[in-house]
Amino acid sequence: RTVYLNGDYLPEAEARVSVFDRGFVMADGVYEVVSVLDGKLIDFEGHQARLKRSLDALEIRNPLSDDEYLTAFRELVQRNGIDEGLVYLQVTRGNPGDRDFAYPPADTPPTVVAFTQSKPGLADNPAARTGLKIVTLPDERWGRRDIKTVQLLYPSMAKMAAKAQGADDAWLVQDGTVTEGTSNNAYILRGNTIITRELSHDILHGITRQAVLRFADEAQMSVEERAFTPDEAKSADEAFITSASAFVMPVVEIDGTPVGSGKPGPVAARLREIYIDEMR
Ligand code: PDD
Repeated sequence: RTVYLNGDYLPEAEARVSVFDRGFVMADGVYEVVSVLDGKLIDFEGHQARLKRSLDALEIRNPLSDDEYLTAFRELVQRNGIDEGLVYLQVTRGNPGDRDFAYPPADTPPTVVAFTQSKPGLADNPAARTGLKIVTLPDERWGRRDIKTVQLLYPSMAKMAAKAQGADDAWLVQDGTVTEGTSNNAYILRGNTIITRELSHDILHGITRQAVLRFADEAQMSVEERAFTPDEAKSADEAFITSASAFVMPVVEIDGTPVGSGKPGPVAARLREIYIDEMR
Protein backbone atom coordinates (compact mmCIF):
# COMPACT_ATOMS: atom_id res chain seq x y z
CA ARG A 1 0.00 0.00 0.00
CA THR A 2 1.11 3.54 -0.74
CA VAL A 3 0.57 6.00 2.11
CA TYR A 4 0.92 9.76 2.40
CA LEU A 5 3.31 11.35 4.90
CA ASN A 6 4.05 15.09 4.97
CA GLY A 7 3.92 15.59 1.22
CA ASP A 8 5.45 12.27 0.17
CA TYR A 9 3.86 9.13 -1.23
CA LEU A 10 5.66 6.16 0.26
CA PRO A 11 5.34 2.39 0.57
CA GLU A 12 3.73 1.89 4.00
CA ALA A 13 6.87 0.23 5.43
CA GLU A 14 8.92 3.32 4.64
CA ALA A 15 6.59 5.88 6.25
CA ARG A 16 8.12 6.76 9.62
CA VAL A 17 7.01 9.18 12.31
CA SER A 18 9.02 10.27 15.38
CA VAL A 19 8.37 8.47 18.67
CA PHE A 20 8.16 11.99 20.18
CA ASP A 21 5.27 13.00 17.93
CA ARG A 22 2.49 14.32 20.16
CA GLY A 23 0.01 12.24 18.24
CA PHE A 24 1.81 9.17 19.57
CA VAL A 25 2.58 10.21 23.16
CA MET A 26 -0.45 12.44 23.86
CA ALA A 27 -3.17 11.63 21.30
CA ASP A 28 -2.68 15.26 20.30
CA GLY A 29 -4.20 15.19 16.86
CA VAL A 30 -7.36 15.04 14.80
CA TYR A 31 -8.59 12.83 12.01
CA GLU A 32 -11.17 12.39 9.28
CA VAL A 33 -12.59 9.38 7.48
CA VAL A 34 -13.92 9.89 3.96
CA SER A 35 -15.66 7.09 2.06
CA VAL A 36 -14.90 6.14 -1.52
CA LEU A 37 -17.56 4.79 -3.87
CA ASP A 38 -16.80 4.02 -7.54
CA GLY A 39 -13.33 5.47 -6.89
CA LYS A 40 -14.86 8.85 -5.93
CA LEU A 41 -14.65 10.68 -2.61
CA ILE A 42 -17.96 11.07 -0.75
CA ASP A 43 -18.65 14.53 0.75
CA PHE A 44 -15.00 15.55 0.74
CA GLU A 45 -15.94 19.21 1.31
CA GLY A 46 -17.94 18.39 4.45
CA HIS A 47 -15.05 16.47 5.97
CA GLN A 48 -12.60 19.16 4.94
CA ALA A 49 -14.69 21.80 6.72
CA ARG A 50 -14.85 19.75 9.91
CA LEU A 51 -11.11 19.03 9.80
CA LYS A 52 -10.50 22.79 9.89
CA ARG A 53 -12.87 23.20 12.85
CA SER A 54 -11.08 20.41 14.76
CA LEU A 55 -7.63 21.91 14.02
CA ASP A 56 -8.83 25.39 15.03
CA ALA A 57 -10.28 24.10 18.29
CA LEU A 58 -6.90 22.58 19.20
CA GLU A 59 -4.85 25.45 17.75
CA ILE A 60 -3.00 23.08 15.44
CA ARG A 61 -1.77 24.87 12.35
CA ASN A 62 -3.44 23.64 9.17
CA PRO A 63 -0.44 22.58 7.12
CA LEU A 64 -2.15 22.03 3.74
CA SER A 65 -4.47 23.97 1.46
CA ASP A 66 -7.87 22.52 0.50
CA ASP A 67 -6.45 21.67 -2.92
CA GLU A 68 -3.44 19.89 -1.45
CA TYR A 69 -5.69 17.68 0.69
CA LEU A 70 -7.87 16.90 -2.31
CA THR A 71 -4.86 16.06 -4.46
CA ALA A 72 -3.43 13.78 -1.76
CA PHE A 73 -6.76 11.98 -1.30
CA ARG A 74 -7.27 11.46 -5.04
CA GLU A 75 -3.69 10.37 -5.52
CA LEU A 76 -3.99 7.73 -2.76
CA VAL A 77 -7.28 6.41 -4.13
CA GLN A 78 -5.77 6.14 -7.58
CA ARG A 79 -2.39 4.68 -6.56
CA ASN A 80 -4.03 2.07 -4.36
CA GLY A 81 -6.77 1.25 -6.86
CA ILE A 82 -9.60 1.89 -4.40
CA ASP A 83 -13.06 1.35 -5.86
CA GLU A 84 -14.98 1.07 -2.56
CA GLY A 85 -13.33 1.91 0.73
CA LEU A 86 -12.12 4.87 2.67
CA VAL A 87 -9.37 7.41 3.09
CA TYR A 88 -8.14 8.04 6.62
CA LEU A 89 -6.41 11.36 7.31
CA GLN A 90 -4.70 12.36 10.52
CA VAL A 91 -3.03 15.63 11.47
CA THR A 92 -1.08 15.68 14.72
CA ARG A 93 0.77 18.53 16.40
CA GLY A 94 4.11 16.89 15.57
CA ASN A 95 6.93 17.63 18.00
CA PRO A 96 10.63 17.81 17.40
CA GLY A 97 11.63 17.77 21.08
CA ASP A 98 11.07 16.35 24.54
CA ARG A 99 7.73 15.26 25.89
CA ASP A 100 6.07 18.25 27.53
CA PHE A 101 2.45 19.07 28.44
CA ALA A 102 2.89 22.55 26.99
CA TYR A 103 2.46 22.76 23.23
CA PRO A 104 5.64 23.20 21.18
CA PRO A 105 6.10 26.59 19.43
CA ALA A 106 3.32 27.49 17.02
CA ASP A 107 5.61 27.18 13.98
CA THR A 108 6.28 23.47 14.71
CA PRO A 109 5.30 21.53 11.59
CA PRO A 110 2.30 19.24 12.15
CA THR A 111 2.50 15.63 10.98
CA VAL A 112 0.10 14.73 8.19
CA VAL A 113 -0.60 11.08 7.49
CA ALA A 114 -3.17 9.58 5.13
CA PHE A 115 -3.87 6.07 3.95
CA THR A 116 -6.59 4.09 2.24
CA GLN A 117 -8.51 0.97 3.25
CA SER A 118 -10.27 -1.07 0.61
CA LYS A 119 -13.78 -2.13 1.66
CA PRO A 120 -15.58 -3.92 -1.15
CA GLY A 121 -19.32 -4.07 -0.46
CA LEU A 122 -19.50 -0.73 1.32
CA ALA A 123 -22.62 0.35 -0.56
CA ASP A 124 -24.21 -3.09 -0.89
CA ASN A 125 -23.47 -3.91 2.74
CA PRO A 126 -25.16 -7.14 3.97
CA ALA A 127 -25.40 -5.59 7.48
CA ALA A 128 -27.95 -3.14 6.08
CA ARG A 129 -30.28 -6.10 5.41
CA THR A 130 -29.99 -7.62 8.89
CA GLY A 131 -29.45 -4.51 11.04
CA LEU A 132 -27.27 -3.96 14.07
CA LYS A 133 -27.66 -5.05 17.69
CA ILE A 134 -26.77 -2.30 20.13
CA VAL A 135 -26.18 -2.23 23.86
CA THR A 136 -26.18 0.94 25.94
CA LEU A 137 -23.14 1.84 28.03
CA PRO A 138 -22.17 4.88 30.09
CA ASP A 139 -20.53 7.69 28.10
CA GLU A 140 -17.20 8.17 29.82
CA ARG A 141 -15.45 10.18 27.13
CA TRP A 142 -14.10 13.70 27.61
CA GLY A 143 -16.28 16.79 27.24
CA ARG A 144 -15.29 17.99 23.74
CA ARG A 145 -16.61 15.24 21.51
CA ASP A 146 -17.27 17.80 18.78
CA ILE A 147 -13.51 17.80 18.13
CA LYS A 148 -12.59 14.71 16.11
CA THR A 149 -9.47 13.77 18.07
CA VAL A 150 -7.49 10.55 17.72
CA GLN A 151 -8.13 9.88 21.42
CA LEU A 152 -10.34 6.83 20.80
CA LEU A 153 -9.64 4.55 23.72
CA TYR A 154 -13.02 4.76 25.44
CA PRO A 155 -14.97 4.17 22.19
CA SER A 156 -12.72 1.13 21.54
CA MET A 157 -13.38 -0.19 25.05
CA ALA A 158 -17.13 0.32 24.57
CA LYS A 159 -17.03 -1.48 21.21
CA MET A 160 -15.22 -4.43 22.83
CA ALA A 161 -17.71 -4.50 25.74
CA ALA A 162 -20.58 -4.53 23.22
CA LYS A 163 -19.02 -7.42 21.30
CA ALA A 164 -18.42 -9.32 24.54
CA GLN A 165 -22.19 -9.09 25.10
CA GLY A 166 -22.91 -10.46 21.63
CA ALA A 167 -23.87 -7.06 20.19
CA ASP A 168 -22.39 -5.15 17.25
CA ASP A 169 -21.87 -1.77 18.85
CA ALA A 170 -22.76 0.50 21.76
CA TRP A 171 -24.82 3.65 22.20
CA LEU A 172 -23.38 5.83 24.94
CA VAL A 173 -25.56 7.29 27.67
CA GLN A 174 -24.95 10.46 29.68
CA ASP A 175 -27.34 11.76 32.37
CA GLY A 176 -30.01 9.33 31.19
CA THR A 177 -29.96 10.16 27.47
CA VAL A 178 -28.18 8.70 24.46
CA THR A 179 -25.35 10.89 23.18
CA GLU A 180 -24.23 8.87 20.13
CA GLY A 181 -22.66 5.57 19.07
CA THR A 182 -18.99 4.69 19.57
CA SER A 183 -18.24 5.90 16.03
CA ASN A 184 -21.60 7.05 14.64
CA ASN A 185 -24.59 9.29 15.33
CA ALA A 186 -27.77 7.75 16.78
CA TYR A 187 -31.39 8.18 15.63
CA ILE A 188 -34.83 6.86 16.41
CA LEU A 189 -38.10 7.14 14.53
CA ARG A 190 -41.41 7.73 16.32
CA GLY A 191 -44.39 7.78 14.01
CA ASN A 192 -43.12 9.85 11.11
CA THR A 193 -40.60 11.86 13.08
CA ILE A 194 -36.86 11.28 13.00
CA ILE A 195 -35.31 12.12 16.37
CA THR A 196 -31.59 12.70 16.87
CA ARG A 197 -29.64 14.55 19.53
CA GLU A 198 -29.04 18.26 18.94
CA LEU A 199 -25.51 19.48 18.17
CA SER A 200 -23.36 20.50 21.15
CA HIS A 201 -19.98 19.63 22.65
CA ASP A 202 -21.53 16.27 23.69
CA ILE A 203 -21.40 14.68 20.23
CA LEU A 204 -19.41 14.69 17.03
CA HIS A 205 -21.13 16.82 14.41
CA GLY A 206 -21.46 14.04 11.87
CA ILE A 207 -20.95 14.96 8.24
CA THR A 208 -23.26 12.10 7.26
CA ARG A 209 -25.79 13.39 9.82
CA GLN A 210 -25.73 16.79 8.16
CA ALA A 211 -26.39 15.30 4.71
CA VAL A 212 -29.03 12.81 5.90
CA LEU A 213 -31.00 15.49 7.78
CA ARG A 214 -30.93 17.66 4.65
CA PHE A 215 -32.23 14.75 2.51
CA ALA A 216 -34.90 13.95 5.13
CA ASP A 217 -36.02 17.57 5.02
CA GLU A 218 -36.10 17.58 1.21
CA ALA A 219 -38.24 14.40 1.35
CA GLN A 220 -40.70 16.24 3.69
CA MET A 221 -39.88 13.99 6.64
CA SER A 222 -40.12 15.67 10.01
CA VAL A 223 -36.99 15.89 12.14
CA GLU A 224 -36.70 16.71 15.83
CA GLU A 225 -33.23 17.47 17.16
CA ARG A 226 -33.37 16.52 20.83
CA ALA A 227 -32.00 13.98 23.28
CA PHE A 228 -33.83 10.68 23.81
CA THR A 229 -33.57 8.03 26.51
CA PRO A 230 -32.67 4.36 26.00
CA ASP A 231 -36.28 3.49 26.98
CA GLU A 232 -37.69 5.78 24.33
CA ALA A 233 -35.35 4.14 21.80
CA LYS A 234 -36.45 0.64 22.79
CA SER A 235 -40.11 1.52 22.22
CA ALA A 236 -39.42 3.47 18.99
CA ASP A 237 -40.72 2.39 15.57
CA GLU A 238 -37.21 2.29 14.12
CA ALA A 239 -33.66 3.09 15.08
CA PHE A 240 -30.55 3.68 13.00
CA ILE A 241 -27.06 5.15 12.91
CA THR A 242 -25.09 7.23 10.44
CA SER A 243 -21.38 7.61 9.74
CA ALA A 244 -19.05 8.12 6.81
CA SER A 245 -18.25 4.40 6.68
CA ALA A 246 -21.69 2.96 7.56
CA PHE A 247 -23.79 5.56 5.65
CA VAL A 248 -27.24 4.83 7.16
CA MET A 249 -27.43 1.52 9.02
CA PRO A 250 -30.55 0.13 10.73
CA VAL A 251 -30.55 -0.85 14.41
CA VAL A 252 -32.86 -3.77 15.19
CA GLU A 253 -32.16 -4.46 18.84
CA ILE A 254 -31.24 -2.35 21.87
CA ASP A 255 -30.15 -4.07 25.11
CA GLY A 256 -31.85 -7.27 23.93
CA THR A 257 -35.18 -5.54 23.15
CA PRO A 258 -36.27 -5.67 19.49
CA VAL A 259 -36.92 -2.21 18.03
CA GLY A 260 -40.25 -1.99 16.15
CA SER A 261 -40.66 -5.18 14.11
CA GLY A 262 -37.14 -6.31 15.04
CA LYS A 263 -36.27 -5.99 11.34
CA PRO A 264 -34.61 -3.09 9.49
CA GLY A 265 -37.26 -0.38 9.12
CA PRO A 266 -38.48 1.22 5.87
CA VAL A 267 -37.43 4.77 6.77
CA ALA A 268 -33.83 3.76 7.53
CA ALA A 269 -33.75 1.77 4.28
CA ARG A 270 -35.12 4.71 2.32
CA LEU A 271 -32.65 7.19 3.86
CA ARG A 272 -29.81 4.80 3.11
CA GLU A 273 -30.89 4.54 -0.52
CA ILE A 274 -31.33 8.30 -0.89
CA TYR A 275 -27.96 9.00 0.74
CA ILE A 276 -26.05 6.57 -1.48
CA ASP A 277 -27.89 7.66 -4.66
CA GLU A 278 -27.39 11.35 -3.99
CA MET A 279 -23.79 11.18 -2.86
CA ARG A 280 -22.26 8.68 -5.28
N1 PDD B 1 -16.46 7.96 13.01
N2 PDD B 1 -19.78 10.13 16.20
C1 PDD B 1 -18.55 9.62 16.44
C2 PDD B 1 -18.09 9.50 17.85
C3 PDD B 1 -17.73 9.24 15.36
O1 PDD B 1 -16.51 8.73 15.58
C4 PDD B 1 -18.22 9.36 14.03
C5 PDD B 1 -17.40 8.98 12.83
C6 PDD B 1 -19.52 9.87 13.84
C7 PDD B 1 -20.11 10.07 12.47
O2 PDD B 1 -19.50 11.15 11.80
P1 PDD B 1 -19.40 11.18 10.22
O3 PDD B 1 -20.79 11.02 9.69
O4 PDD B 1 -18.83 12.49 9.92
O5 PDD B 1 -18.51 10.02 9.82
C8 PDD B 1 -20.25 10.26 14.95
C9 PDD B 1 -15.58 7.58 11.91
C10 PDD B 1 -16.32 7.04 10.74
C11 PDD B 1 -14.49 6.65 12.44
O6 PDD B 1 -14.04 6.93 13.53
O7 PDD B 1 -14.11 5.71 11.75
